[in-house]
Amino acid sequence: MSDAISSMLHESRVFEPSAHFLSNIGPLNVPDMGAYERMYRQSMDDPITFWGTIARAFRWYRPFTEVLDWNCPDARWFADGTTNVCANCVDRQVDDGFGDDTAIIWEGEPCAPEPEIRRITYRDLQREVSRTANALKSMGVRRGDVVTIYMGMVPELTITMLACARIGAPHSVIFGGFAASAIVDRVSDAKSKVIVTCDGSWRRGQVVPLKQSVDEACERLPDVAHVLVVRRTNAPITMREGRDQWWHEVVTRQADDCPCEEMGAEDLLFLLYTSGSTGKPKGIRHTTGGYMVFTAFTAKTTFNLVPGRNHVYFCTADIGWITGHSYIVYGMLPNRVPTVMYEGAPNFPAEDRFWSMIARHRVTHFYTAPTAIRAFMKWGDEHPARHDLTSLLLLGTVGEPINPEAWMWYHDKIGLKRCPIVDTMWQTETGGHIITPLPGCTPTVPGSCTLPFFGIDAAIVNERGEPLAPNQGGLLVIRKPWPGMLRGIHGDRARYIETYWSKVPGMYVAGDGARRDERGYFWIMGRIDDVINVSGHRLGTMEVESALVSHPAVVEAAVVGMPHEIKGTGIAAFVTLAPSSTGSADASLRKQLAEHVTREIGAIARPDMIRFTAQLPKTRSGKIMRRLLRDIAAGKDLTQDTTTLEDFTVLAKLRESDE
Ligand code: PRX
Repeated sequence: MSDAISSMLHESRVFEPSAHFLSNIGPLNVPDMGAYERMYRQSMDDPITFWGTIARAFRWYRPFTEVLDWNCPDARWFADGTTNVCANCVDRQVDDGFGDDTAIIWEGEPCAPEPEIRRITYRDLQREVSRTANALKSMGVRRGDVVTIYMGMVPELTITMLACARIGAPHSVIFGGFAASAIVDRVSDAKSKVIVTCDGSWRRGQVVPLKQSVDEACERLPDVAHVLVVRRTNAPITMREGRDQWWHEVVTRQADDCPCEEMGAEDLLFLLYTSGSTGKPKGIRHTTGGYMVFTAFTAKTTFNLVPGRNHVYFCTADIGWITGHSYIVYGMLPNRVPTVMYEGAPNFPAEDRFWSMIARHRVTHFYTAPTAIRAFMKWGDEHPARHDLTSLLLLGTVGEPINPEAWMWYHDKIGLKRCPIVDTMWQTETGGHIITPLPGCTPTVPGSCTLPFFGIDAAIVNERGEPLAPNQGGLLVIRKPWPGMLRGIHGDRARYIETYWSKVPGMYVAGDGARRDERGYFWIMGRIDDVINVSGHRLGTMEVESALVSHPAVVEAAVVGMPHEIKGTGIAAFVTLAPSSTGSADASLRKQLAEHVTREIGAIARPDMIRFTAQLPKTRSGKIMRRLLRDIAAGKDLTQDTTTLEDFTVLAKLRESDE
């Protein structure tokens, strides 16, 4: 357990809903804890009525007659209903008379002197999405075909996702920070023939060469027939005849209307790849009806969104992760509150980028990650202090446990001591929030994600599935299905069952260790598998190990997490070298290896510490002693540069009994 987490054990500060929030937010969706408890009880006792009522408020072509068909581990929600997610996000708002309302506020990376801003109404969105959908169709995309999206944070990214949803083509968005090999894995697994990308995207004044990575990947992807390219940076790229087309040439000439495909509630909406314990990322499957209902309802409830009250919501995530899918796009648009998306980085052109955006757009809801908050703290209080943050009503965090110190700073310096903080715990697999405070309702405690969301039967159990007493650490499980849950791992049913449903039969095992305190509040203690959470991004240690051993100098590698001031968890790599390379175990090789991993996976996987070792410490049965490595990584000075090979075998012998 890290220091940050153990310190939470003694946290006793409780924050009741603030008067400022209560008098400015508008009607509360869940007015008090009595209401929370009643609704939670109903959602447990009678989920069919609970979710059926919520789901009926959406637009269905054929209304569902059955809410849930549960055959563990397979859930089917609203299965005989038909709908379209894009219609619920976009067309519905236009039809209801809100076509001129702002759907998306986009801010490009500030290219001096003024940032580039685009405001997109629902009507604009309907037109652009329809044209894009028609363009995809012109490339042969049909219902059921997976379209890969590898783009920067430009409006065309959201537009492409919605266009896919409109025509029933599931999308697979790949985070723009991943390298070519990540594209290869994901495109082949999804059997995708069309990629939508940009010439590049802006980050800290530099061009991220997206199209170049796609070209590199396509050398190993003979089945990719079409690449659609948005011009964003004007970076020089090569367009391959017959395969590559410019967005501004193809999309703009399409018809403005495109009917929404009538989709079954259980038809695939998208795949999103995420890291697991083994090397290969898993394609998490989310389907149409349940995901739509769950994300829109959690967004509305957790952020207390009220249309027509000048709410402006800004989530700083990249759409390449689930947070962006659920809480920039799909959960937001049905709620008719403008969603802000931005291109660039939080510290460019200066460390006050977000605070200037909040002031400029009068942001009321701000949602970010603890790793970002720790960076803001380090950059200094003067940056937020220079800006008018009085528009803010609500703050949120997501991605990893937040240390109370960061929580307090967020509360004081950004929330001006008057905005509730919703610490939302969830996962790619859960589709939306599973444990979270409700603002204006739940008293919050720094570091705790508090109580389960409606319909989420969360518990802390031991390996036999028995509930544990307060404050005993155990496995976080969910014992009932919920609409936003994943419907499987693409093409790998055995892995789906093995990963989530076999550790405690009949229960969804999230992969996190957690405890519940005396008042029933949840405290997440961190991953229990070989997944590390680096800056709120999930990485499999094995993915980094595979990247390292693909370097000719490396024979074996073991990767573990280590405490990191900003990232939460940093990456520590222990490496044994090929005999021919042992003589060059120095800082320059270390740098080469770090660069190699960056090339193979992306900058988020770059190790923070690389240690050369004569042998990896192993148990007699040959298992790498990861706990020992974690202790070593946690206890040593990051900056030290050992030029000789280290030998952990003596330590390993001493420790063998408790590994
Ligand atoms: O360990 C938990 C942590 O992030 C993991 C899920 O990662 P991912 O699928 O990439 O989704 C991140 C964004 C939803 C979880 O298993 N995690 C996420 N939110 C929190 C958290 N840990 C503690 N508190 C949170 N609020």
